[in-house]
Amino acid sequence: MPLPVAVYDTRSYDRAHLDAAARAHPETAIRWRFHDFRLSTETVGSLDGAAAVCVFVNDRVDARCIELMAAAGVRHIALRCAGFNNVDLAAARAAGLRVTRVPAYSPHAVAEHSVALLMTLNRKIHRAYNRVREQNFSLGGLVGFDLHGKTVGIVGTGKIGRLAAQIFRGFGTNVLAYDTYPDTTWAAAHGVAYTGLDELLAASDIVSLYLPLLPSTHQLIDAERVARMKPGAYLVNTSRGKLVDTTALIDALRSGHLGGVALDVYEEEEGVFFEDLSDVVIKDSELMMLLSFPNVLLTSHQAFLTREALNEIARVTTENLARLAAGQPPLDGTELLPA
Ligand code: NAI
Repeated sequence: MPLPVAVYDTRSYDRAHLDAAARAHPETAIRWRFHDFRLSTETVGSLDGAAAVCVFVNDRVDARCIELMAAAGVRHIALRCAGFNNVDLAAARAAGLRVTRVPAYSPHAVAEHSVALLMTLNRKIHRAYNRVREQNFSLGGLVGFDLHGKTVGIVGTGKIGRLAAQIFRGFGTNVLAYDTYPDTTWAAAHGVAYTGLDELLAASDIVSLYLPLLPSTHQLIDAERVARMKPGAYLVNTSRGKLVDTTALIDALRSGHLGGVALDVYEEEEGVFFEDLSDVVIKDSELMMLLSFPNVLLTSHQAFLTREALNEIARVTTENLARLAAGQPPLDGTELLPA
């Protein structure tokens, strides 16, 4: 029997990879129903008989949405991402829905993007690119700093944070790290020193976040913690926008306390990121303020966007849909609510 799956917030690259992955499971006959809009209580009427939904980082899978999905016959929520802060897991459990995610599709993709953002911002590559294209070969305003010899603070040493730390060690930086569960064996092997968060903030020239969004990490970088950072320090966030208090960030940029900010995620990115809004007046004044600063670099939640990551996301998501449809357990470590 075919398996209808409603897939939300999709773009051409998602569709191509999911189509290819589904061809590897002819026995399940997955029928993707691709939507470019996000799943929420307002759009849940689009399920149209789907037995499963496939969602991404900005779909809003709250308790009401889950209740409506369960009543419509949905049995499985397949997250095609690692973070799951946008799904009410307690409500899913209560409604008897299975929830799977892709915990590690390519930690390299995200770690490498965070370093790319920092290097672009520091060496002003984005500004130089535009200048040279207009035959402006001047160098004024393009002065950066050597990474070599600087101190980088890695907040969160899970899969992505460790890789980032190792890349930064390759630049000849000192790397400090903070995690609630430090791995001292890994740290010793890579010349990384664990320390407290406040010490890390005070000592680092660059602070980069590699944390999940949890109640305990919501606005972890607030006004007080921004104030603890070294004058002129750079902040990089490729994890989740809500880890940082944007108002505090803007205040610190305006006062000149922070030297630069590189973001792949933004507190209020839902409804903005992944969309072409080039003809629209954006009403979020904090976002517009961030975009106006010469020392802020923003990408639109694209750290995951490599061929390798998209293949792996599609493979794991499709495999889990096929397994659950056949009454088998999902791949190890991918289920958020073990049966
Ligand atoms: P992970 O689960 O392997 O590592 C997270 C680390 O954070 C763990 O070591 C954990 O102990 C630590 N941690 C949790 N709460 C903490 C706290 N309050 N204080 C200090 N440390 C704490 O996760 P992974 O794979 O490294 O991913 C990190 C985050 O990156 C994800 O949760 C996701 O939000 C984000 N991400 C962003 C992507 C993008 O495209 N921008 C793509 C993939 C992930």
